[in-house]
Amino acid sequence: MNTWKFRTILFLAAFGVVPLAAAVVVVPVNPQNGEALYEKNCMACHAAKFGGDGSQIFTRSSRKVQNMTQLQARVTACSVNNNTGWFPSDEASVVNWLNQQYYKFK
Ligand code: HEC
Repeated sequence: MNTWKFRTILFLAAFGVVPLAAAVVVVPVNPQNGEALYEKNCMACHAAKFGGDGSQIFTRSSRKVQNMTQLQARVTACSVNNNTGWFPSDEASVVNWLNQQYYKFK
C-alpha cells in the first residue's frame, strides 16, 4: 500500500468512522422531544398545504410512507431540505414520534 492510500485510510478512520460510531451510540430517543422538533421545524408547511394541524399528510389514504425505512429516509430528506440542523438523534426522535402518533409501524 502506498503512503497516500494509508493516509486516506487513517483520515477516514479518524473523521469518518469514529463520529459515525458516536452518532449511533447517541441515537435512542425521546419522543417528546420529537414532537417539539416537529412542531418547530415542520408543521407549519404541512398545515399550510393540508389544512388543520397538517397531520392529514400522515393519515391520508394516499400517504407515501409505507414502512420505517421510508419514514426514516423521508424525515432525513425533509430535515436536510429545510436546513433544520438536526442531529441523527433528533431525526430519530421525530421518526419515533411520527410513528407512535400516526404511522404505527411495528
Ligand atoms: C416547505 C414545506 C414543507 C416542510 C417545511 C416540511 N415538509 Fe414534509 N412534506 C411536504 C409536502 C408537500 C409533503 C407531501 C409530498 C407528497 O405528497 O409527495 C410532505 C411529506 C412529508 C412526509 C411523508 C408523508 C406521507 O405521505 O407519508 C413526511 C414523513 C414529512 N413530510 C416529514 C417532514 C418533516 C420531519 C419535516 C421537518 C423537518 C418536514 N416534513 C418539513 C412539505 C414540507
